[in-house]
Amino acid sequence: MEIRPFTASDADAVFEVHRRAFEGRTDESRIVQRLHDADKAVVSLVAVENDRIVGHVLFSPVSVADQKEVGKVAGLAPVGVLPENQNEGVGSSLIEHGFVECRDAGVDAVVVLGDPGYYSRFGFERASEYGLGNEYGADEGFMVKPLTEGALDDVDGIVTYRPEFQSDED
Ligand SMILES: CC(C)(COP(=O)(O)OP(=O)(O)OC[C@H]1O[C@@H](n2cnc3c(N)ncnc32)[C@H](O)[C@@H]1OP(=O)(O)O)[C@@H](O)C(=O)NCCC(=O)NCCS
Repeated sequence: MEIRPFTASDADAVFEVHRRAFEGRTDESRIVQRLHDADKAVVSLVAVENDRIVGHVLFSPVSVADQKEVGKVAGLAPVGVLPENQNEGVGSSLIEHGFVECRDAGVDAVVVLGDPGYYSRFGFERASEYGLGNEYGADEGFMVKPLTEGALDDVDGIVTYRPEFQSDED
């Protein structure tokens, strides 16, 4: 399996990966499409197996309260793997590579909204313990992972995702 950056020619395959990963729902696929169209992905990676895209992960910038410096914190969402390729380490590999790329892009911390049973293995911790809140009323499901030492020392408040995450009007 190869992990490499997303390119525009991957768009259809990536749409399909999320549609199938999320049981036929296209919300996540369309979020990914909008973020790419707006050029707002900090990191976007595909997993390729036998010349086929089997997984994709995206990290986008989030703002924290009235923090001026947008881009220091990124949100991991979505991550999806084709059903027939799940539980083979593809998702973990995409996420771990994503952390490295995020750090290279100057990101200090990553937030995620999801299942702590899955994300805690990557070092994510409950974000409220770092003074970070979210717009969705989640508690233990909203997590953060610092990528650099002291990354969250001066950061607290409500985390807001890009407008591309809001459902479309059509
Ligand atoms: C979540 C997902 C990306 C994980 O990718 P993957 O390639 O299957 O994961 P890995 O092979 O790296 O890891 C497998 C482990 O994750 C666990 N896992 C997978 N999905 C999980 C979930 N939703 N909640 C808790 N644990 C989960 C598996 O039980 C397995 O655990 P184990 O290592 O203890 O056996 C993939 O299952 C998927 O696309 N799911 C549907 C879409 C989704 O829910 N995305 C995440 C929300 S944005």
